[in-house]
Amino acid sequence: MMTINSIEELFKATQAFHGSIGFVPTMGALHEGHLSLIRQARKENDFVVVSIFVNPTQFLEGEDLDSYPRKEAADTKICELAGVDLIFMPNVAMMYEADELSITAPAIRGFILEGSKRPGHFNGMLQVVMKLLNLIAYHKPTEFRAYFGKKDAQQLALIMQMVKNYFINVEIVPCNIVRSSDGLALSSRNVYLSKEERAKALSLSRSLRKATEMVMRKEFSVSVIEKAMQEVLEEVDVEYIAFVNREFQAIDEVEIGNTIMLVAAGVGNTRLIDNLWI
Ligand code: PAJ
Repeated sequence: MMTINSIEELFKATQAFHGSIGFVPTMGALHEGHLSLIRQARKENDFVVVSIFVNPTQFLEGEDLDSYPRKEAADTKICELAGVDLIFMPNVAMMYEADELSITAPAIRGFILEGSKRPGHFNGMLQVVMKLLNLIAYHKPTEFRAYFGKKDAQQLALIMQMVKNYFINVEIVPCNIVRSSDGLALSSRNVYLSKEERAKALSLSRSLRKATEMVMRKEFSVSVIEKAMQEVLEEVDVEYIAFVNREFQAIDEVEIGNTIMLVAAGVGNTRLIDNLWI
């Protein structure tokens, strides 16, 4: 496995990749969620590239950019064991210049939910994903796939739209959410949680399970389901509960096969998101 820290070396290395490339962009502090993306990429491609880059432009003022967990040695080991061919770990200076052309997420998909709670976050996220896709596929591999988790459902939807709108030659592969056995969706930010907070954080997935049970009993009214979810989420600071279709438009009635239920909440100082696709 190669670990590469410069764009020049990256281009040199990928030039020798004759075949398909599976790419998994991450911000590091790798866990089983990331690993499931890497494993899928390994299965489906000749070469697997993982990027690790804590992208400053997607953090808002006052967010956890400086304290975001950085675990270079452990991440390298995890990638090596998973059969990754190349880790790309750039620094900020080689990824950005002072006054850049920027990408703006569209109003509907980009500004509801995460977009309105974290204005600017998606613009920075799209900007870096565009850069990374261009960098990794610089030498035009025969097939190019990029793997993203449904955990960040809105991020995934916006990336798919960017790829479509800018005619980027990549297949975006959505991957299922990985949870710990108690239901908590894995996240690099879970390390911030104390034991008590972690117990409270379980209410996010519990509220989504409750909603699923209601849908299975043929309760499709979003307002009725939301009320029941609120009760489950009593111990956390709910930011939003939302029901959208696969296009990320708000809906009033659940439609099985075309609904994403999302929840965001603060637990202590940590902000968590979770969702379920039904
Ligand atoms: P990061 O939070 O490190 O996540 C990297 C990828 O792992 C994303 O596609 C995310 O959805 C996926 N992922 C995280 N937790 C997961 C889980 N529990 N189950 C399944 N997949 C999971 O998302 C980012 O980084 C950044 O925004 C990035 C796309 C790298 C751009 O900077």
